Amino acid sequence: MKKLILDLDTGIDDSMALAYAVESSDFELIGVTGTYGNVYTEVGAQNALNVLQVLGHSDVPVYCGAKHSLHTERYLRHEISAKIHGENGVGDVDLPMASRPIEEKKAVDFLIWAITKYRQDLVIVATGPLTNLALALKQAPLLKEIIGPVVIMGGALTVPGNVSPYAEANISKDPHAAKFLFESGIDLTMVGLDVTERSQLTKQDTQTWRQVQTMSGRVFADMVDYYIAQHPHSGATASYLHDPSAVICAAHPEWFTMLPMHMTVITEGEGTGRTIGDPAKLRTPEPRVKVCVGVDSEKVERHFVETLTALFRKAI
Ligand code: BDR
Ligand code: CA
Repeated sequence: MKKLILDLDTGIDDSMALAYAVESSDFELIGVTGTYGNVYTEVGAQNALNVLQVLGHSDVPVYCGAKHSLHTERYLRHEISAKIHGENGVGDVDLPMASRPIEEKKAVDFLIWAITKYRQDLVIVATGPLTNLALALKQAPLLKEIIGPVVIMGGALTVPGNVSPYAEANISKDPHAAKFLFESGIDLTMVGLDVTERSQLTKQDTQTWRQVQTMSGRVFADMVDYYIAQHPHSGATASYLHDPSAVICAAHPEWFTMLPMHMTVITEGEGTGRTIGDPAKLRTPEPRVKVCVGVDSEKVERHFVETLTALFRKAI
């Protein structure tokens, strides 16, 4: 079984990605590295620990990572994140405080250790700004030669962005980190808005979880109902399946259509945060970035709801 690290800005859909990962039979989750984005880094890391405890997986360690992007001194939380994910990042649902503390080791050190130890047997899924991973590869450049698959939720190629006409939120929060990773030559799969907005969760799905009648089922139903209410385009009856899609893609790439491309990111001007084909590499063979441009949404949605329902039946 492959080892898995999740790099999260926990976040409602990050919490869903985490739940899917602990229940997946394809991966052994060996750690969560926390980053900023939907919430400040420490808040997100604590959310991840609290979620893990509710799900009966307090054995998974959580590490704190970058507090801001590569090229800024501090991170100012976007008002939009507080609106979409709630003040506390998990839909203002009160999660019991985890008894396990956040690890003392830093996220970047853990990433460097794990990539060195597990190499191709390790999959990393990142569903926030890509600062932690960029810092790890900048600090230890030889890791680029041994690192296994990296799957990210971020970017938009064939559809508009969600924070500007060009940019998706995770990439826009640290476009330099994303550019560095896209151009680094590592095996990277981009699960962007092109596919994550095609798969959705409905009130019927959260009702299924509520009916399990466990605390975990209720907490997730409350969180996702909050999230659904922030998706007015759907009449507030359905939410996108952003972050879970990245973990599902890592486990079931056969449900996604991928385009191999040389990708880069615009880091200046109006188009900042745009993920786009790299004009400097038009004649370079063998691109290592794969961009998801199609998805079997029905399969993804059904599989996701069933997997979490099974988990909530076992958890408290
Ligand atoms: C991404 O932005 C965050 O708000 C979500 O958690 C997701 O990772 C979607 O653009
Ligand atoms: Ca996220």
